[in-house]
Amino acid sequence: MDGKKDWKQLWLKYDRKADAGNGKFFEKVALEGFDAADRVVKSALCELTRGAEGMLGVTPKVQEGTPCTLLLKKATGDPEGYALKEENGQITLEGADEKGLLYGTFHLLRLVSMEKSLAGLQVSLRPDNPLRMYNHWDNMDGSIERGYSGESFFFENDDIVINERTKDYARLMASIGINGVVINNVNVKQAATWLITDRFFDKVARLSEIFADYGIKFFLSLNYAATIELGGLGSADPFDAGVIAWWKAKMQECFAKIPNLGGFLVKADSEGRPGPFTYGRTQADGANMLADAVAPYGGIIIWRCFVYNCMQDWRDYKTDRARAGYDNFIGMDGDYRENVILQIKNGPMDFQIREPVSPLLGGLKKTNQMLEVQVAQEYTGHQIDVCYLIPMFKEVLDFHTFCKEGADTVADVISGRTMGNKNAGIAAVINTGNDANWTGNYLAAANLYGFGRLAFQTSLSAEEILDEWIPMSLSSDPQVVETVKGILLPSRETYEKYTSPLGIGWMVTPHDHYGCSVDGYEYDRWGTYHRADHLGIGVDRSDRGTGYAQQYYEPNASAYNNVETCPEELLLFFHHVPYKYLLKSGKTLIQHIYDSHFEGYDEAEGFARAWEGLEGKVDGEIFANVKERFGMQLYNAREWRDQVNSYFHRLSWIPDERGRRIY
Ligand code: GCU
Repeated sequence: MDGKKDWKQLWLKYDRKADAGNGKFFEKVALEGFDAADRVVKSALCELTRGAEGMLGVTPKVQEGTPCTLLLKKATGDPEGYALKEENGQITLEGADEKGLLYGTFHLLRLVSMEKSLAGLQVSLRPDNPLRMYNHWDNMDGSIERGYSGESFFFENDDIVINERTKDYARLMASIGINGVVINNVNVKQAATWLITDRFFDKVARLSEIFADYGIKFFLSLNYAATIELGGLGSADPFDAGVIAWWKAKMQECFAKIPNLGGFLVKADSEGRPGPFTYGRTQADGANMLADAVAPYGGIIIWRCFVYNCMQDWRDYKTDRARAGYDNFIGMDGDYRENVILQIKNGPMDFQIREPVSPLLGGLKKTNQMLEVQVAQEYTGHQIDVCYLIPMFKEVLDFHTFCKEGADTVADVISGRTMGNKNAGIAAVINTGNDANWTGNYLAAANLYGFGRLAFQTSLSAEEILDEWIPMSLSSDPQVVETVKGILLPSRETYEKYTSPLGIGWMVTPHDHYGCSVDGYEYDRWGTYHRADHLGIGVDRSDRGTGYAQQYYEPNASAYNNVETCPEELLLFFHHVPYKYLLKSGKTLIQHIYDSHFEGYDEAEGFARAWEGLEGKVDGEIFANVKERFGMQLYNAREWRDQVNSYFHRLSWIPDERGRRIY
């Protein structure tokens, strides 16, 4: 390995691969039914050439009509779908539309990159989720809210940046099936409020055109109070005629100026952001007012459900932040316009390493829903610690809400299968920045890649995704593949083990959210408490406590309500439990805390050692990057282990059965 490889292209680096008999298929390419001048078709052809040249040393000749070795054919089928078939030395790629063609092209190139033979290939796919989005939390000054890999590549100095990376980004997104991107932070302030004005329209439009080439719809986060801040109106009341008229005109302007605009994402009445509550209106009133304004242009409003009281008194045991999403939205189920989608975080709190699934998902039965997960590692190690999140996302998608017989998983709800709706899907807060390797820790790119793949094809396993990502991004050497899988697959549980136990969360350094601070949030206003005392720990969310467990359908509600039937990994989320309580493993709760923290650290050490063994087998720069991160992870894991164990030892006075060193 020469250490000079272009790691900036991530899984699309297209370096030379073993031919596996594939080169011949890329020699003569013909189009049937597709217009070679179409922007998305052009991108597909361009990618095909780039991939075949780089990986196989073959330059495809695009010609009229047959005979050919690769036929790109327009066929009928579900939107964005494609089929691939090899027969008698010819591959036929049928796309239901231009996007299907593009996705099918990337599918072929992926197989080449994995050094799989294309002989006998036969697949037929359509995306499971209509909307597959990444949300950037990028600010216009270049900073990123919860960014761990440099600054924004969309913005700097209150202006928009368009450069080589913009196109690379669009290619990367399309290659994993992403079809919508929100470029700016949900907390829309200062210059970002002006993104919907002449000050930025030209550049916004240029940016959105680049996305359009790759079949990606362009979205912006909106400032709900724009009528006040831009319009000079005294109000943002969704029932005010002046407010309604202002938004109507503004949306007409936006859709005229930004041709590839899909709609808007809105964070309202949340963490100090303005919203309809200020005017005594409901969330539905606010969302519908905007939805009506974008409807003439086919636009959608994605309205976030992260609405809770962030000025809580820690002395108050009845108010429960976990309840807030459901309490604020369930009453308006069915009241939303058809072009409104409610975007719901996977858990009821905020992207902790372990949370139950939000009861709002599937709790709503007549409202378009979208799942929001966080690929950015805000609470999961800042892209310093390795934490492969796909297993967690799969758990959420597989969760049975019991909302409807036969179609009740979260995957059913957000794909539109439960309600037969098309405005549905999945979004993730992205983990990219302008670092050379995009994601800080190079291994965090497995999350960037994996989210898109999972959004497209929910049935893929966490391991199958790695079987793609590792050969495409690192090496197909079996030792590399096995070692990296051995690190990534268990890494979420490892992170969980050395941080906060059994679903309690929040023992993290306030605001920054990296590193241990057991009581950091305990006496704060954020509604995030562990309630540990000398006898036990946990939040009683049963019907004797905050009643949160009752927000689920049966049998989930009863299962969570009862300490005996509550899934143990969520025990402390739902119950206040004595340290001497016996877990199913036969261990006491306190012993579980000690053991898991020692184990978590040891596992992290094992990952670092395993990575050391890959020196010379992976790119030198990548090796050094990940090795450096492991050094930092071990420091972090050791602090967590010793602080958490010491804290509970000092509080409970119960010694570790195995007599290990606690401080
Ligand atoms: C978290 C995060 C904030 C973010 C918020 C949101 O609370 O820490 O930075 O703005 O989520 O999702 O809106």
